[in-house]
Amino acid sequence: MELAPIKREFALTLPVVLVSTVDQAGTRNLAPYSNVTPLLRSTDLIVLASWHRRDTLKNIRRTGEFVVSVPGVALADKIMPAAMHYPPQVDEFSQAGLEAKPSRLVRPPGVAGCLAWLECRLRKQYLEKSYVLVVGQVLRLEMDERFVTPQGGLDLSKAQPLMASLDEEGVNWATVRDLGKGAPYGAMFPHGQDPLAKLYRD
Ligand SMILES: Cc1cc2nc3c(=O)[nH]c(=O)nc-3n(C[C@H](O)[C@H](O)[C@H](O)COP(=O)(O)O)c2cc1C
Repeated sequence: MELAPIKREFALTLPVVLVSTVDQAGTRNLAPYSNVTPLLRSTDLIVLASWHRRDTLKNIRRTGEFVVSVPGVALADKIMPAAMHYPPQVDEFSQAGLEAKPSRLVRPPGVAGCLAWLECRLRKQYLEKSYVLVVGQVLRLEMDERFVTPQGGLDLSKAQPLMASLDEEGVNWATVRDLGKGAPYGAMFPHGQDPLAKLYRD
């Protein structure tokens, strides 16, 4: 079955995160973003794509700071309230019924009850006419220890990170399932060694 190229997001299951910012007066803003990914492995960068018409983007550009909170499925019903458009002076945490979790290194708080929090500083913007690719440097990364495996990853069956599968009618909330099998990074290389392994050792 062939689909119109504009439907490309129907073919890709997307992450869902909550991006929090503050404006110059300190008003808290919150918005879900799905166009978000770490920038390759072994950097401390993440990239998100934002339409220009976003208070989130305006705040990031003015203050240089944002927090990416990673929700689990328990927060699925809070995503659309957080996506509603409000005037910039409205506190969107209150509107969405979400509690703030103070950050350590940046002004915007994260969202309490999430699985992980990335405190970020604006590093670079790639400007297009209607949208911007925002590259953020992760200054501080925290995961709720209840959901961390001995190998340092997310325990997917416990954490149930929120994902989205899109279609012509809207968003279908989803999560991922651990298949119970995997492979070491070294399996990509003929000598079986991961050249980046030492970067990840504490
Ligand atoms: C699941 C989901 C994912 C979204 N992802 C993005 C995104 O990646 N980029 C974007 O610009 N808007 C995205 N939006 C739309 C914004 O969240 C929405 O327009 C919000 O009102 C923006 O708020 P703000 O103006 O306070 O920043 C998404 C909405 C939903 C529900």
